[in-house]
Amino acid sequence: MTETKIKTKPILFSGVQPSGAITIGNYIGAIRNFVLLKDSYRCLFSIVDLHALTVRREPALLRRRTVELAALYIACGLDPEENLIYCQSHVPEHAELTWILSCYTYMGELSRMTQFKAKSETNSDNINAGLFTYPVLMAADILLYQTQIVPVGADQKQHLEITRDIAQRFNALYGDVFVVPEVYMHKETAKIMSLSDPSRKMSKSDPEESYISLLDSPDDIRRKLKRAVTDSDTNIAFDPENKPGVSNLITIYSALSGDSVEKTVKHFNGKGYGDLKKEVTEVVIESLKPIQDRFNELIKDKQYINGILKYNAERAGSIAQRTLRKVYKKVGLYQL
Ligand code: TYM
Repeated sequence: MTETKIKTKPILFSGVQPSGAITIGNYIGAIRNFVLLKDSYRCLFSIVDLHALTVRREPALLRRRTVELAALYIACGLDPEENLIYCQSHVPEHAELTWILSCYTYMGELSRMTQFKAKSETNSDNINAGLFTYPVLMAADILLYQTQIVPVGADQKQHLEITRDIAQRFNALYGDVFVVPEVYMHKETAKIMSLSDPSRKMSKSDPEESYISLLDSPDDIRRKLKRAVTDSDTNIAFDPENKPGVSNLITIYSALSGDSVEKTVKHFNGKGYGDLKKEVTEVVIESLKPIQDRFNELIKDKQYINGILKYNAERAGSIAQRTLRKVYKKVGLYQL
């Protein structure tokens, strides 16, 4: 990253959990926007491995997914020289700021988080404190870097709102310590739905048939889209409320082909669901091919990935240190 870029560009931060196969929901809702925005901002893209610990993970698999996510970020078009791609756990300031911010966050506001409520239901045998304080770690991720913009999917909007509330509360007490970040999302693509239950969002923690992974083979993609739930009607129309399955396929096609939703609907005028699924399949396979090719190259060179992660964690750490020192001073921690 050049010095000019450091001095002149506003800061963008976002993160993805290495908690499962990265899906086309993650790609269309978030990572693709990272690529579109990257030249206008100084960007940090974190592999948020600490967040992934809120659910029990197989340690070796978590490690593998972490390296894979680093390779995927790069394969999707994020140059690791221009963008800080790093692991959250390699920059201890994230955990340190989390503690401070948790003293400025209320139990009441955390208990209103819909994701906490939803995850408590799916993880009823492990409703741990990390699941509850998850948004505080997210606020720390963002506020550490004086972030102006955070591109995310719709499911993270509430976490961005609490981040802004925490920043404003802290600033009201201690002066302008944090930049209050703005959320960035595309209305049309902020929520890609599950293929097997289009009333739910596509999620990497759901069964395999419900999502398409960025690393799925063409055969897997064909099979999953063939089985994708539509409806008993035959009419191809964009109506997310009454035709969620068909509308989701239209959204995926539109996002990956670059055609607007209107143009997509016109394109399918007079065709059937079979045609829609076939063409969505083609566009998904075609869009993922260059990403998969690049990923397969990168993943062979673990030393290169490790080098990137190390170098970028150091760079992120030195920015994070500046904010953390300021925060420690403001709240009255004795410094040597
Ligand atoms: P995660 O790992 O669940 O998802 C990564 C990004 O993908 C978006 N996303 C979707 N967008 C559209 N449709 C979908 N079906 C879909 N599923 C996921 C998510 O909104 C997210 O933008 N807590 C975050 C990670 C995080 C973070 C941060 C993000 C930690 N700290 C700071 C931004 C800033 C998460 O679990 O994302």
